[in-house]
Amino acid sequence: MGASATINGKEIFELLREDLAALEQEFERDTVSGVRAITEIGEYLRAGGGKRIRPTLLLLSAKLLGYQGRGAVRLGAVVEIIHTATLVHDDIIDEAKTRRGRPAANTQWGNSQCVLAGDWLYMQAFKIAVQERNFRILDTLIELTQQMVEGELLQMQTLGKLITLDEHFDLIYRKTACLFSVCMRLGAILGGATAEQEEALGRYGRDLGMAFQIVDDVLDLTASEDVLGKPVASDLREGKVTMAVIHALERCAPEERAKIESILREQAFNGTTHAQILEILQRYESLEAATARAARYAESARKAICTFPDSEIKRALLWAPDFVVAREK
Ligand code: IPE
Ligand code: IPE
Ligand code: MG
Ligand code: MG
Repeated sequence: MGASATINGKEIFELLREDLAALEQEFERDTVSGVRAITEIGEYLRAGGGKRIRPTLLLLSAKLLGYQGRGAVRLGAVVEIIHTATLVHDDIIDEAKTRRGRPAANTQWGNSQCVLAGDWLYMQAFKIAVQERNFRILDTLIELTQQMVEGELLQMQTLGKLITLDEHFDLIYRKTACLFSVCMRLGAILGGATAEQEEALGRYGRDLGMAFQIVDDVLDLTASEDVLGKPVASDLREGKVTMAVIHALERCAPEERAKIESILREQAFNGTTHAQILEILQRYESLEAATARAARYAESARKAICTFPDSEIKRALLWAPDFVVAREK
């Protein structure tokens, strides 16, 4: 492959095929408990699929630095298990009924068992991480978990309220971008990165994560449940304002504002339809504005790694921002 050649999703999958297969095995082994409900919930979520974008980032980051050990697969499982735990808890909090195209775990096992399974998964992730015998890794994961929990709590406190774009960005950093950043930094730590390299890879992860959540929020407004595999138009119904809505609120007429505010307040589409909200967002080009913002973050992610020498792995990392912005689910 020439120096300027690009790489596509299929080729990246080929590049990581063995590691991703090992990751699935590790994940499967790691989510077995003597208590059946935990194993069942873990297995249900694992088998439900998911894009595995977080462990993929971790693997790429470690490989970019030439790391060849088993730790990347183990830590890949750690971040995917943490992600799984947050999804289990998030679906309880959001009262979501579907996830990954299947009934959400909470609808099958109930909230109480799922809260406990989520707790168990968090601890299991830490148990695996301890095997690296590296305090920086543990420190990073503890800080991360607290950020994510704080993010969900802060979001809960703002439900139904109009928040500024800065407040919104702080929330999405905590709930999503922080984990993306940590995936990259863990790969960097394994690969023996310099402080600057770790910082650059962390910045890449953060900006990619910001783009990822902005797109997730746009898809919540524009996608169909069939494609997305999880409920749509749910953010407004849950009282969450996201970037496109904040953009429109800053520009729209009082009666349009009243429509959006009433959905947020009543946490239901009483008398206003999803289509009417989309019309408002289209009128002010708010979905485009959010997508453009995501594209800017994606570009900034790419810039963060520009000083690394060209390689197949680097090209994969340069491709990921395009995937995140263009994805349909
Ligand atoms: C969903 O993450 C939660 C968000 C941060 C938006 P993903 O979209 O990565 O979920 P899966 O793992 O692919 O199902
Ligand atoms: C994702 O937020 C945050 C997590 C860390 C789980 P969302 O509530 O938007 O995630 P989805 O849309 O349910 O996947
Ligand atoms: Mg949710
Ligand atoms: Mg969402």
